[in-house]
Amino acid sequence: MLFKKHTEKPVVDERLRHIAFIMDGNGRWAKKRSMPREAGHASGAKNFKKVIRYCGDLGVKIITVYAFSTENWKRPKHEVDAIMGLLSDYIADAVAMVDENNIQLHFLGDMGIFPPEMQAKIKNAEEVSKDKELILNIALNYGARAEIAHACETLIASGKTEVAEEDVTSALYTAHCPDPDLIVRTGGDLRLSNFLLWQAAYAEFYFTDTLWPDLGEREIDKIVADFYSRKRRYGGL
Ligand code: IPE
Ligand code: IPE
Ligand code: MG
Repeated sequence: MLFKKHTEKPVVDERLRHIAFIMDGNGRWAKKRSMPREAGHASGAKNFKKVIRYCGDLGVKIITVYAFSTENWKRPKHEVDAIMGLLSDYIADAVAMVDENNIQLHFLGDMGIFPPEMQAKIKNAEEVSKDKELILNIALNYGARAEIAHACETLIASGKTEVAEEDVTSALYTAHCPDPDLIVRTGGDLRLSNFLLWQAAYAEFYFTDTLWPDLGEREIDKIVADFYSRKRRYGGL
């Protein structure tokens, strides 16, 4: 890792191509302020834009964010409805960033669950951004176990009778990009919550108590510096 002169901003290289964020802690952020949980999601959606821009500025080529899990449907209807409303904003924000930030959008998860107009927006977002450089994966209605089961179904449907690791990798929602180098979880919990189970095999992890709406540039610098202090051995010496 280098530091750019004057700015003290870290500059990342190919060792940190892909960062994934578990954007957790929106509800607690709101609770701390005696606001409804929905306000926390709105604040989290704002920070999503800032974090993506900053990581792109640092030179990160692939960013994945966990926005809504297959298990999040268990929440009260009013919260799910509020998040669904915000998802349209997420998509609109991401589309607005396509040209300015050179972003290629991908949605990870089973989009079949969403209403047709939302699916059309998602498809359009992927289509209009497909020639851009920086990959932004948004995990929506995403669960890693469902993803792996879906990959198995795809392989069976293609007539495969033998399966290599690479076959599974190429049947996942993330087939278009390398595994995450770093997975960051905000909100203080020390778990993956069904995120990227296959792709995380050799990821580095960083857990912070900071709540997602509060994750700022200086802490990202710290997380990047911490990543560069680690030695990745992949089972070797
Ligand atoms: C993460 O924040 C966003 C989603 C899971 C949709 P939470 O809503 O889980 O916030 P906390 O963990 O309850 O604070
Ligand atoms: C993980 O957060 C999912 C997202 C951030 C989208 P949760 O808040 O759903 O995770 P748990 O329930 O604490 O494991
Ligand atoms: Mg949570």
